[in-house]
This record gives sequence, C-alpha cells and structure tokens, in this order.
Amino acid sequence: MSVQGPQQVLELAKVGRTFGAGATAVAALRDVDLTIGAGEFVAVMGPSGSGKSSLLALAGGLDRPTSGAVFVESTPLAGLGLNELARLRRRAVGYVFQDFNLVPTLTAEENVALPLELDGTSARKARRQAADALRQVGIPELASRYMDQMSGGQQQRVAIARAIVGQRRLILADEPTGALDSTTGQGVMEVLRSRADAGAAVMLVTHEARHAAWADRVVFLRDGRIIDQATAMHDPTMLLTQAGL
Ligand SMILES: Nc1ncnc2c1ncn2[C@@H]1O[C@H](COP(=O)(O)OP(=O)(O)O)[C@@H](O)[C@H]1O
Ligand SMILES: [Mg+2]
Repeated sequence: MSVQGPQQVLELAKVGRTFGAGATAVAALRDVDLTIGAGEFVAVMGPSGSGKSSLLALAGGLDRPTSGAVFVESTPLAGLGLNELARLRRRAVGYVFQDFNLVPTLTAEENVALPLELDGTSARKARRQAADALRQVGIPELASRYMDQMSGGQQQRVAIARAIVGQRRLILADEPTGALDSTTGQGVMEVLRSRADAGAAVMLVTHEARHAAWADRVVFLRDGRIIDQATAMHDPTMLLTQAGL
C-alpha cells in the first residue's frame, strides 16, 4: 500500500524504465519519485529523449516500470490485472496522446462519449457529457463531424475533450497543443487549469514555457532523471533557462 493519503492522486516511487537489455539497453527513466495531489497541475519539461512520454505512459498504466512502483489513488498498478487496469484507466484517467488515437469511423461526440459508454454510462448521459466536454474545448458545433472532416487542430481538441470528459481525476497530456494556434493553445491551458481547480490532478508535457506557466509546479527531466522542480513560476524566461532550452 502507498504511504500517501487519498489526496495523492498519482505517486511514482523510485520508478525506473529500461528498454532493451545488455549493451544496447536504454534507461528511459531512473529513480523517479513524483507525487501529484488532487487539484494540482504539474508541467513536465525537458529535451527530446529525456523520458517525458515514458513518464506519462507509466503514470497512465499504459506501460509498466522495470523498477519501482506506480500508484493511482493509492492503488498499486502492479497489483491490477489487465481488465482491472483497463477499467481504472477508463474511469479515472484521461490521456491525450501525441498522435490523438481517435477512432476515424466515429463522430467527434461519439469519440468523446466512448470511454464513458465502455464503462457502462447510458448512451444518453454519455452523449450529454461528451457535448459538454466539446463545449469546454470550444468546438460544440463540430460534434457530428467525422475525423477526416476535421483539421489537425480540431482533432486535437476532440482528443482533449475525450481526456477531460466525465470528471476524470487524473489527466495526462503529452504535448497537447502541437497542432494548435497560440490562441487555441491558451484555451486548452485554461481548460486544463480549470479541471485542476475542480480537483483533478493534471500532468502536462510541454516545450512551451508560456504553457508551463499555467502549472503549479514544473518538473524538469534530463536523461530520465528529475533534475529540478520549480514551484509556481510565472516567468517564462526563467523556465526556459531552467529547462536548458
Ligand atoms: N518503446 C521503446 N523502445 C526503445 N526505446 C524507447 C522506447 N520508448 C522510448 N525509448 C527511449 O527512451 C528514451 C526516452 O524516450 P521518451 O520517453 O519518448 O522521451 P521524450 O518524450 O522526452 O522525448 C529515449 O532514449 C527513447 O529512445
Ligand atoms: Mg515525447
């Protein structure tokens, strides 16, 4: 069991992730200790290859660590079977993938409603919550569009809506503003900030200091290690310097 109280939504304890073995082994993460509480918004920064995506995948139960342990709401993920893990992910975790992972044969609203419906929410309620999430990301009028009728930026907003739908308690976003213009990018930060203010734990990977400035805390990764954590800085220049960018 985790030693942390229930207010800790995410806890990584001495987490390591090595890919491959022997001389060609790559240590993507080493000895990472990180906790994120309810209501907390954490930004993760660091150079390409520093382990940011690996960190998110472990936090969301999409990958398993080679050492250490991951807890979501005090549940050790290592103790869950595949079905239980899938259920926890659908219920509690919203994940924005770098390449969106949307279902092309579904409309925007159907894509957003899908995790709720898979989890047993009635179709009507799931659709209503999906419509609300699409409204939050600023595209309520695109609810019945299919993915090939949407721009990259619009699809990205659908992916973000799917991650925040239904009061998810842990929201993980891997560079979710890549395909967005700067105004829309700021809008997405407002959405993530408001989810955190409503009690979710949010972890955002970003290269952009002005996006990290929305976070309560910034974690800097280099070569798979956390090299620094800065609290509530709203000075982009400072962030860039710290990130070594
Ligand atoms: N599936 C994988 N197989 C082998 N190596 C991987 C895999 N995923 C990530 N890595 C390696 O782990 C390191 C960290 O990658 P990643 O977490 O994607 O970094 P970032 O998101 O910060 O760019 C890199 O050296 C990368 O090549
Ligand atoms: Mg990455």
